[in-house]
Amino acid sequence: MSSRGLLLVLEGGEGVGKTTQWQRLADRLTQFGQDVLALREPGGTPSGDVIRELLLNPRHSLTPSAEALLFAASRAELVERSLKPALDRGAVVLLDRYLLSTYVYQGIARGLSMDGLRRINAFATGQLVPDLTLLLSLPLNEAMARTQARGEPDRLEQEARAFHERVQEGFQTATGNAWQAEYPECGPIVSVLAQGTPDEVSERCMQVLAVRWPDRFGATAARV
Ligand code: TYD
Repeated sequence: MSSRGLLLVLEGGEGVGKTTQWQRLADRLTQFGQDVLALREPGGTPSGDVIRELLLNPRHSLTPSAEALLFAASRAELVERSLKPALDRGAVVLLDRYLLSTYVYQGIARGLSMDGLRRINAFATGQLVPDLTLLLSLPLNEAMARTQARGEPDRLEQEARAFHERVQEGFQTATGNAWQAEYPECGPIVSVLAQGTPDEVSERCMQVLAVRWPDRFGATAARV
């Protein structure tokens, strides 16, 4: 895959503050004069939003494989309609969750075949590989306390603690070299500590981006 833009993904378990960081980072990247498009999974397209409702509403019951296929269907819509056109015009796409979430939630936590997930997602995305994933990490107790404070849990948040422990371990494994060699379709993954104030966390994220792309996001990069 080659494109002129950049695909930056934010990942992490429930309650790590990902949505807050996604909004802040979109603002901060825009300040560097970049054409920034912030997108979220699942959803982000008209039919993707219907699929999101199916996936997250606790009233619906789904088998693990139906769940995985619906995440992939929502992803296919998003990639084709929004993501690829934005990358082709040179935009920086900041995406809240992508393929790594599927490997961790449906693969490691639900126990589906990683190879099956790889195949349906290669079909769904046309093998669109992120340029970088920032993985926000927080101790599970802290993250779960934040989720509980948010009110009505969705279908995945309702899962037992053991499920979220597997998610946590899965994300941790993904930062290792062995994972990155085995799943190159996830692209490079960098862990960012999500403890502290939202400002401190977004500063850490920006430092990672500045080191990797000094011309775009470094101290001497042009700001608007
Ligand atoms: P969302 O409300 O977007 O929450 P969050 O702020 O945690 O991202 O819910 C998305 C849920 O879907 C979340 O529990 C993670 C899960 N998910 C998967 O299980 N597989 C996937 O491929 C994706 C993209 C998300």
